[in-house]
This record gives sequence, structure tokens and C-alpha cells, in this order.
Amino acid sequence: MFLFHVVTLLKHIRETAFVYAITAAGVTHAVTQACSMGELLQCGCEATRSRAPPRPPAAGPGEPAGSGEGGKWEWGGCGDDVEFGYEKSKQFMDTKRRRGKSDIRALVDLHNNEAGRLAVKLYMRMECKCHGLSGSCTLRTCWKKMAPFREVGDRLLERFKGASKVMGGNDGKTLIPVGHNIKPPDRQDLIYSAESPDFCQANRKTGSLGTRGRTCNSTAMDVSGCDLLCCERGHRDETLEFEENCLCRFHWCCVVQCKKCSVRKELSLCH
Ligand SMILES: *[C@@H]1O[C@H](CO)[C@@H](O)[C@H](O)[C@H]1NC(C)=O
Repeated sequence: MFLFHVVTLLKHIRETAFVYAITAAGVTHAVTQACSMGELLQCGCEATRSRAPPRPPAAGPGEPAGSGEGGKWEWGGCGDDVEFGYEKSKQFMDTKRRRGKSDIRALVDLHNNEAGRLAVKLYMRMECKCHGLSGSCTLRTCWKKMAPFREVGDRLLERFKGASKVMGGNDGKTLIPVGHNIKPPDRQDLIYSAESPDFCQANRKTGSLGTRGRTCNSTAMDVSGCDLLCCERGHRDETLEFEENCLCRFHWCCVVQCKKCSVRKELSLCH
């Protein structure tokens, strides 16, 4: 929630869009996961009876190796009930809109929330298990699983990079893409309405914390590299000592006990 506080200081910039989207995606993913793990009373695995009758699964990612062609299959196992997580995320994220916000800002937030949820819901994969003598796969049971959240994050990062700028229409109810010859954003695209401030220098007005003191990577050429992250102010290398958990042991049942070890790390820090 700290993150929310920071981004609400900012206008509807690209970064805000990402935070809204990944939060909505996170709620969708976590609730759905909890359903499948049996941690919630209101939900569980996806009900298979109401599913559409099985069609021959298209070969694709998530297909087990060596799955025979044309074998019979049916829904089974524990599919992720992403529809439930999607609805819960919607209730949680879309209704707690603060009053007094302009319609346009609300539209932008709602759009990005939805884009985040879709980044989970539209990329389900099928997993199957073979049954039959010595893996002959005469019958397979299949279920749908969400992609790991890391992949959802990567997908949203791509949308962040390609985010579209919009402005409000005269009716106060529509969003119009800014710029010419730009394809209108679709439901999965992230949108923003103001350019990002300069994040190099701390600025309380814009909510920017600046990059002084940030750890950077002296060999990376991307935004995590010292050249870009430190905004050409340079960096210093320091060896710092950290305490970490180590030699962890699991005791039945159910505690994990660890020792504390101090480790030295070489870090680069922005000037
Ligand atoms: C730093 O960047 C290099 C090159 O991109 C990469 O191989 C390395 O893993 C990075 N180090 C850390 C600590 O992230």
C-alpha cells in the first residue's frame, strides 16, 4: 500500500499505469492460487462439469512431451478457477474509487486494472497427464493453470514499454489516443495521460525520490546499469556486510530454524 501512496502523488504517468495493472494482476493471481490450494472457503478448483466439452487440445506450451495424437482426453485434475480470482480482483480494485476524481482519471485507472487482470486470465495454459499402459496415453486428463506470476510481470513490463498516451474526450467519458497514426490501445495495453517527471533528482512535488544511493550494476547497459540509473553522476563501489539466514533446517512440524550468517557484498551505489 506504500506503493499506492507514492503513485497517487504522481499524475497518471506510465509508472502509475504499471502499478495499477500489476496490483490488479497480483490480486487475481493470488486469489486464484489460494482457491486451488484449498485455502479459501468460497472457492476451489475450477468446476469441470460446467466446462465446454473437450476439444482436441492444440499442441502448444504446457503440452506434455510425447503426448499421443488423437488420444481421448477429458477435463480433470485441479484447474485454476481464474474467473473467480478475476471477479474478486474486480470487486476489490474497481469499486474503491475515491470520489472527486475526474471521470477521465477513473477511466484510465479502470482500464489499467483490467489490463492487469487480462495479463493473467488470457494466458492460461493447459497441463495434461497421461493414463494408460506404460505411458501409452490412451486417455489424458487436462486442466488449466495460470502462468507463473513472473511471466505475468514480464508481460506487463512489455506493455509498460509500449504504453499509449491518451487524453479525455470532450464528453468526459471517452479516452482518445494522443498522436497521429497511432493504433488505439486495446484492452491489454497500458495507458497514461501525463509524461513521467524526471526521476533522477528527488522532487517532493512529483513524488520522485531521486536515484542517489540506489544500488546499480556497473556492467549492465540497461536501466539497472550505473550509467543510466545514476543519471551520469557516477557511482562508488562499496563492500558492505549483511546478515542473512543460512543453514536453515526444517523441523517437523512446521518450523524452519535458521542461523544468521554475515556475508560481504560488493555493491555499486549512485552518487
Ligand atoms: C549485472 O549485469 C550483468 C550484465 O548485464 C549481469 O550479467 C549480472 O548478472 C548483473 N549483476 C547483478 C548483481 O544483477
